[in-house]
Amino acid sequence: MSKNLLLMGLPGAGKGTQAENIVEKYGIPHISTGDIFRAAMKEKTPMGVKAQQYIDKGELVPDDVTCGIVEERLKQADTKNGYLLDGFPRTLEQAKQLEIMGEKLDKKLDAVINIDVDPDILVARLSGRFICKSCGATYHKLYKQPKVEGTCDNCGGHAFYQRSDDEPETVKNRLKVNLEMNTPLVDFYSKLNLLHTVAGDQNITDVTKDINKILTNLD
Ligand code: AP5
Ligand code: MG
Ligand code: ZN
Repeated sequence: MSKNLLLMGLPGAGKGTQAENIVEKYGIPHISTGDIFRAAMKEKTPMGVKAQQYIDKGELVPDDVTCGIVEERLKQADTKNGYLLDGFPRTLEQAKQLEIMGEKLDKKLDAVINIDVDPDILVARLSGRFICKSCGATYHKLYKQPKVEGTCDNCGGHAFYQRSDDEPETVKNRLKVNLEMNTPLVDFYSKLNLLHTVAGDQNITDVTKDINKILTNLD
């Protein structure tokens, strides 16, 4: 059975962290709109230059740009056995567009996993995050340190960076913008009977265990 999945949650909820396990388990591609925008920003493509204006302020990139990117991505052959969306949809309009894409491409969502967290803990999550420059693996100065200090577990790299949108002022706006949209999206997927919620304020391993339980029940 195909696995067409969506991982949703506020900034810092742990979408990227948990996505690693899910995509490995099923051999499906991880489609993070944030990662796609950051790659385009690095390459300075026209789309990247446009997206950066919004991302640097902690605003959402307009729906038409974001939906276009996802539709193109879902058309690629590697989504044949499923996909894991991370951070898309983030507005009701995007959710409606995704339903239309799903119909059209015969790739409708099978399940939505919502990582639910108290917004108060998210500033600490984001301010402590650091990322490997060569492979993109994500760490945290308190909650997920590399096994050998200064060396990436995944690729052995030694250079790390912090995301420019993890500055405290930008984080505040990201949280505000995403909080506004979160409840309507949760309601949307709850009405479609697709929603599964996990408690995201546990440690990383326990969140993974809860997600695995949900996935097992879907098999
Ligand atoms: P995006 O890159 O998706 O950012 P985000 O939603 O703000 O989420 P993050 O990636 O910051 O958090 P995460 O949930 O992945 O957490 P992580 O696993 O890293 O989007 C960036 C921007 O792009 C948006 O602001 C917007 O401008 C634009 N954009 C993207 N999609 C869009 C869309 N659909 N529409 C419009 N605009 C869009 O974990 C965070 C930290 O916590 C890490 O250090 C990690 O090690 C640690 N951690 C994780 N889990 C735990 C745990 N259980 N306990 C303790 N620490 C943990
Ligand atoms: Mg992420
Ligand atoms: Zn690495």
